[in-house]
Amino acid sequence: MSRAVITKARSPLRGTTTVPGDKSISHRRALLSLFVDGDVRLAHFNTGADCACTLECLERLGKTVAQRDDEVTISGAAECAPCSLDCGNSGTTARLLMGILAGCEGQWTLTGDDSLSRRPMERVAEPLRRMGARIELTGGRLPAQITGARLRGIEYHSPLPSAQVKSAVLLAALQAEGATRFRESFLTRDHTERILRIARGTDGWIVLDPGSVRVHAASLSARIPGDPSSAAFWIAAALLVPDSAVKVDGVLANPTRVAYIEVLQHAGAQLVMENQSERDNESCADLSVRHGTLRAFTIRNPRAAQCLDEIPALAVLATQASGTSEFRDVGELRVKESNRLDLTARNLRRMGASVEQDGDRIAVTGQGPLRGAEIETAGDHRLAMAFAIAGLAAEGRTVIQNAECVAVSYPEFWSELERVAPGTVRVEP
Ligand code: S3P
Repeated sequence: MSRAVITKARSPLRGTTTVPGDKSISHRRALLSLFVDGDVRLAHFNTGADCACTLECLERLGKTVAQRDDEVTISGAAECAPCSLDCGNSGTTARLLMGILAGCEGQWTLTGDDSLSRRPMERVAEPLRRMGARIELTGGRLPAQITGARLRGIEYHSPLPSAQVKSAVLLAALQAEGATRFRESFLTRDHTERILRIARGTDGWIVLDPGSVRVHAASLSARIPGDPSSAAFWIAAALLVPDSAVKVDGVLANPTRVAYIEVLQHAGAQLVMENQSERDNESCADLSVRHGTLRAFTIRNPRAAQCLDEIPALAVLATQASGTSEFRDVGELRVKESNRLDLTARNLRRMGASVEQDGDRIAVTGQGPLRGAEIETAGDHRLAMAFAIAGLAAEGRTVIQNAECVAVSYPEFWSELERVAPGTVRVEP
């Protein structure tokens, strides 16, 4: 296992960067190729291990995958022979595949790594079973046995704000008899709806009538915008290091994904979205950010649900904001790739930050000095990257364990950090 040693940035971060293709959109467009035979061409496909798992599962399901860097072509017909599918660390792969396979003919076992095998799957299996799916979990978790069944449309008001639950139900609905009506209490990322070109009605319900949704290879092919959840680390870095000015080009600007940008703007960040454009039913923009002091901020639902993946980076920024920032309704962080709630609080305290944690809430009081520390990542990519950025503002050495875990979503992260902030990072085998 490698570790990364980060030292304080002594000079401003400057320049322009880009980030890998959006992970959520990469998974969805690739997985939807199971419904078509023609060539699906995806440019700027996410280069991380999670999306590679999705591609490997597609190959096991009979698809042909050709990849050159971040360009992927998926072709051929799926043949759903019984097999075991390894979803690695990727919750999106496991949960969305469950929705797709539930209505196909065949039998499959879904497995995952230690982290994924601890994550809850009943939230997806439960609505799918209402549709007629035959899914057996192991104590509510992976491994899962799926036996394809005839599905019927349902009406489902999801108790959880989860785009993975929503997507699994909508993907199953494509193969169900009759329409499915789905509703969530807070709007979560809506990439599945955008790809399928279905929309939430003014009454809050999404209605998917399988007879009226057509999925074609041409409509799945796309250029995927940069992942805003990865861009968040460069934004945080520029906001932390004095005099920095950084631009991140070509980032997804979908309104369900930019809640963290709005939070930071509200907190006083000089952060602008420029050159907005529309393509493949998603919007994309360049983000420009300048260093500046932030005011404390409070995040609660629906915003908390919309920026859950960016909470570790936002919590790091809260350590340097004036006043006490509060993160409410963030209990779901406990069931991400690690227990991100506890680990964010614990690692911030190790760095000398003032953090209070009770129940599903964290409060961070800012503007105290950060000191370098040994960071426990539990192999969680977003914790590794968020605390590497914290290390840029800390006196002394910050050591990130399991440094290789960034490859889950952003394999180029360490080399890009060295380019953006030269001399601050050393990765040791
Ligand atoms: C994702 C949805 C979110 C998010 C995850 C990716 C997706 O999870 O945290 O990183 O691609 O649908 P939940 O659906 O569990 O909220």
